[in-house]
Amino acid sequence: MKLWLIGFMGSGKSSLGKQLARTLNLSFYDTDSIIEKRAALRIDQIFRKHGESYFRILERQLCLEYSNFSSGVYATGGGTPIKSFSVDEMMESGQVVFLNAPLEVLWDRVSKDKNNRPLAISYDQFASLHECRYPIYKRAQYVINSVQSMESCMKELQGFLSKTI
Ligand code: S3P
Repeated sequence: MKLWLIGFMGSGKSSLGKQLARTLNLSFYDTDSIIEKRAALRIDQIFRKHGESYFRILERQLCLEYSNFSSGVYATGGGTPIKSFSVDEMMESGQVVFLNAPLEVLWDRVSKDKNNRPLAISYDQFASLHECRYPIYKRAQYVINSVQSMESCMKELQGFLSKTI
């Protein structure tokens, strides 16, 4: 089973993904962490030193690698399906789940930890980025409200997976 998790910054892709992988007994992959490890730089340092377009090249290369794997839970970065690897490309190799949450909740989470998020500069900019990206995220096969307990998310996702796979 292969699952791609997409959603805006702060939507909980990494924490939910980790838990989901554990529950389903699958490996967990986090795009941002793997890019950071390989580059030996934090995301904000990659943006500053090499620019966003270089980051997107790394992101795409990694997703292309992932697409050859047969199973796993893949937590992507907030910009992945828009800038690097489309929802259609993800769907060719697995199920795509969009973790949705109200903008205010996302900003509240992200604004507390903006240091390693070069695209979370001000609320207005964050909100307009969210507005542009939302229709793309919505193309996922399944949309889950990530503002609920981890347990409820797990139950809901397991229900979806049992019907589709
Ligand atoms: C980005 C989101 C970040 C990270 C990078 C760019 C984006 O990941 O990939 O800062 O374009 O929204 P998270 O969604 O995990 O914060």
